[in-house]
Amino acid sequence: MSQTLWNAVDEYICDRLVGPDEALEAALAHSEAAGLPAIAVAPNQGKLLQILARAVGARRILEIGTLGGYSTIWLARALPADGRLVTLELDPKHAEVARENLVRAGLHPRVDIHVGAALDTLARLHKQGVGGFCFTFIDADKANIPEYFEWAVKLSRRGALIVVDNVVRKGGLIAEHSSDPDIQGVRRLHDALARDTRVTATTLQTVGSKGHDGLTIALVN
Ligand code: SAH
Ligand code: DHB
Ligand code: MG
Repeated sequence: MSQTLWNAVDEYICDRLVGPDEALEAALAHSEAAGLPAIAVAPNQGKLLQILARAVGARRILEIGTLGGYSTIWLARALPADGRLVTLELDPKHAEVARENLVRAGLHPRVDIHVGAALDTLARLHKQGVGGFCFTFIDADKANIPEYFEWAVKLSRRGALIVVDNVVRKGGLIAEHSSDPDIQGVRRLHDALARDTRVTATTLQTVGSKGHDGLTIALVN
């Protein structure tokens, strides 16, 4: 019922199961110092992304929405030494902070950061023949989630996972007549998924340090 309790339980979980990590903590500290918004995934969510990427044996990872590279670090660490992560970010300042954080984490050689509107970048990457991703994390602007999901399916190999953040939005997901473009984005995703035979998908609502929200997880058949 209360954010205070959700925070305390997340703290308990992170104390035991995530633990301290210099590169991840430095990434958050530098992001904050640079004035980036504090909207990265929670540590236990970052670890979930890493576990899922490892579970599918991900060699190529796509991320849409880099911010300061916090989730990027979690995901890049799931890769084998010759694996690659492609991450897309609109804001050049966010991308620069992410680049510094990835250098500090020793992961920069495995990561390509593309600056620009993700829909443009995705179309360009597709034209260049980029694809075969094993894992995609969609976490940019929420109004375009259904379009990002379409690209993610197109750019995925069979057996890939696609994870979408922030899909429950404090229950906004069930607000049928909302004029909020973010809520319309997550509702359009679910309407599309209801008819989509290319993937097996579900959504989990979550509470925690990031409030009441949720994740969609889709397996590409
Ligand atoms: N995945 C990050 C958080 C991302 S926050 C983490 O968990 O650590 C969302 C990011 O998406 C912001 O940095 C924002 O600038 C970026 N973004 C917003 N609109 C975008 C667009 N059209 N294309 C690419 N990135 C976008
Ligand atoms: C926001 C974006 C996110 O990706 C998130 O996890 C939380 C908040 C936002 O834009 O406010
Ligand atoms: Mg998010």
